[in-house]
Amino acid sequence: MTQRKFITFEGGEGSGKSTQARLLADKLLALGHEVVVTREPGGSPLAEKIRALVLQSKPASPEAEMLLFAAARAEHLHVKIKPALARGAYVICDRFIDSTRVYQGRMGAVDPAFIASIERAIVDRFMPALTFVLDVPAKTGMARAAARGELNHYDDKDLSWHAALREAFQNVAKDEPARCVLLDGSRAAEQVAAGVWRAVQQRMGQA
Ligand code: TYD
Repeated sequence: MTQRKFITFEGGEGSGKSTQARLLADKLLALGHEVVVTREPGGSPLAEKIRALVLQSKPASPEAEMLLFAAARAEHLHVKIKPALARGAYVICDRFIDSTRVYQGRMGAVDPAFIASIERAIVDRFMPALTFVLDVPAKTGMARAAARGELNHYDDKDLSWHAALREAFQNVAKDEPARCVLLDGSRAAEQVAAGVWRAVQQRMGQA
């Protein structure tokens, strides 16, 4: 089951997720809605601690890594996402389950069936109704991420890895067309934001 007011942004490094999350929040706020903008890994005090832990040093065990992201998600859902949705707020999250499917699954070493079972157990009916997958050429994304100077051990990979990451996100979007909208993230932020808003209106009846 999906949550009508739960929207996520996904994509590789430098794809513009956080910018688009903010721009969409501004639109909804201007219409008088309550909006919670959040991110993963993180989004709650404990989940932010787990984020710092995983981004600082990559766990040796792929399963341990996946379960840490999952633990952070369970906490984030419990303390922030579910209460916000319960009071009728929109929740916009920068990365969610599709990042685990891509980084730990398609690009990593964890059995997708194991990921799916953990996802079902943790997320259950709190699935986003709409997920934007921002698609940018590997080179563009890497250049943007490098310009921000925020490279962590997840970003610090070569061009062919980033190209494979891009393809993995494209495939995740293709697998679930009812939820996922693939957008060209290499355009100007305002153009991408216009595409995001069109999709929100079409898919969610939001005016
Ligand atoms: P972050 O600096 O937030 O990356 P970005 O700015 O590109 O969003 O770092 C988060 C990293 O964690 C990112 O490289 C992807 C990775 N990640 C996973 O591997 N699995 C997950 O489930 C999530 C949520 C993130």
